[in-house]
Amino acid sequence: METGHRIETLGILGAGRLGMTLAQLAVSAGLRVLIARSGDPAPISRRVRAIGATPATSAEVIDQTDAVVLALPLGRYRSLPADALDGSLVIDAMNYWWASDGVRDDLSDPRTSTSELVQSHLPGARVVKALSHMGYQDLEDEPRPAGDPDRKAIAIAGDEPRDVAVVAALVDDLGFDPVFAGPLAAGIAMEPGAEAFGADVDAASLRGMLEGFADSQRGIVVARARGEAAAAATPRIERVPVESSALRSVGYRADLAVLEIEFVSGDVYRYHAVPASVHDALMDAESHGRFFLDRIRDVYPTTRVS
Ligand SMILES: NC(=O)c1ccc[n+]([C@@H]2O[C@H](COP(=O)([O-])OP(=O)(O)OC[C@H]3O[C@@H](n4cnc5c(N)ncnc54)[C@H](OP(=O)(O)O)[C@@H]3O)[C@@H](O)[C@H]2O)c1
Repeated sequence: METGHRIETLGILGAGRLGMTLAQLAVSAGLRVLIARSGDPAPISRRVRAIGATPATSAEVIDQTDAVVLALPLGRYRSLPADALDGSLVIDAMNYWWASDGVRDDLSDPRTSTSELVQSHLPGARVVKALSHMGYQDLEDEPRPAGDPDRKAIAIAGDEPRDVAVVAALVDDLGFDPVFAGPLAAGIAMEPGAEAFGADVDAASLRGMLEGFADSQRGIVVARARGEAAAAATPRIERVPVESSALRSVGYRADLAVLEIEFVSGDVYRYHAVPASVHDALMDAESHGRFFLDRIRDVYPTTRVS
């Protein structure tokens, strides 16, 4: 995937196992790093300085860096200061982990990726999910230069291509191949319960895991929950002629359709768990392109076929 302009100063909120490992990697990559715990940074100062990073308060991390990595327990995401993070590029590396977060239905709702929850809490921030699925020990052990045949990959999910590109460049700088997983909603394919969670594999294998999510047990639960949620919101069908796509249906699984859309570019994507009513309306629509933009893009779990 393409990489964007480089982050020079990286902020990290959370100075535990993941935060300190990322700080070490970023310092090794030549970045300036500011890292904070929840309160006074004094208790972490010596450890942080020993790896070449700067201990800071959360406010300093947010004010003085190009991007802020969230490396704190997900259960505490509501403690993040939404006003201060307005306008910031925020890299969400957090996962729902019941052992530390407690049993929380809101953090395991299949309709919503946890990064979407974080984005809702930080409406003015630009949230990208990344650096979340690989364990901190693998992160520490595996950085390699670009082109190394044993280089491992890290998945990225985000809604804004420019922000995704910036995070991809960071992942590359840290020593990993960036792999685009889709919009923020698709971040669920790298959360606990998905095959990609814990993955310490190369880019081709990681892509395979992400693409296989839709057919996995968790993927089917997610697709059903989302398909049903989408079907519940009865859509208005707008028919505006746009010659932008050709499409064909590849069949149904139970009451949920699988659609394959071939774009004029030649790219073919598969959309899973599209409700039968939407599928049928699409097949009838005079304008497939417009209907696609309004009703299908970014709504259903998507895999690339070719
Ligand atoms: N461990 C891994 O291998 C790994 C890999 C990928 C992703 N993750 C994710 O990364 C997150 C952190 O995991 P971890 O294993 O590093 O946990 P950890 O070792 O328990 O560290 C959590 C850190 O977050 C800090 N913290 C808590 N609330 C904070 C706040 N409001 N602002 C700033 N810092 C805050 C804690 O500091 P104080 O309590 O001292 O303030 C502590 O330094 C989790 O969401 C986890 O799912 C972990």
